[in-house]
Amino acid sequence: MVQAFAASDRRPLRVAVLGSGRGSNFAALLAARQAGRLAIDLVGVFSDRPAALILRRAGEAGIPALAVPPRQYASRAVHEDALFAAVDDVQPDLIVCAGYMRIIGARALEGRSPRMINIHPSLLPRHRGLDTHQAALDAGDAEHGASVHFVTAELDGGPLIAQARVPVLPGDDAERLSARVLAREHPLLCACVDLFAQRRVVLSGAAVLIDGQRIERPWQLADDDRLIERAA
Ligand code: GRF
Repeated sequence: MVQAFAASDRRPLRVAVLGSGRGSNFAALLAARQAGRLAIDLVGVFSDRPAALILRRAGEAGIPALAVPPRQYASRAVHEDALFAAVDDVQPDLIVCAGYMRIIGARALEGRSPRMINIHPSLLPRHRGLDTHQAALDAGDAEHGASVHFVTAELDGGPLIAQARVPVLPGDDAERLSARVLAREHPLLCACVDLFAQRRVVLSGAAVLIDGQRIERPWQLADDDRLIERAA
């Protein structure tokens, strides 16, 4: 069971990443770390899909990369046991789900929620689940974006940390809109992981505390890629 970070703890945050596909969010974390903008150690990348690009990207960067394919296990629970045993082996302070396409069961999340975050491509609580860009278009939303939240057993329903907003523009289709969102996902995720690296954010029950204060609304990614409190 993990707990709130001690404010005095200044060693680089050990970060594990879970992903199923292209891994552009992982690549953004890697680039920020390599540029000296993020005080983290990327200690492992895990995927349910052996062919996922995210694993290749990690391998090329010399980061331990492991596929844990569900079909090799008798049940979802056994698969998750194997996955999280491997994740635990690298002793992460923070587990980042970045395009991990499987629902994680409540048992695997027990005790992990305070150190597990997910990036989701919508302004939660709007558009949980899949196909969020088309859902935003179908709903006629003027604004769309991405959210970073703690992972709980409620799918895409965990406490929100921060969001990035983009406009929906005339003529948008899901592809154009998703590209606009993705461009903001990368700085959003880096800024959120930086909050953890600086030991500024904790989950306390269902509340998110930043700098010791409960936040009433998710923080917002500003144009300069910094997180700011959202005006009421
Ligand atoms: C992102 O849009 C993320 O928000 C969603 O899945 C996508 C992953 O993209 N959960 P990538 O693998 O990081 O490029």
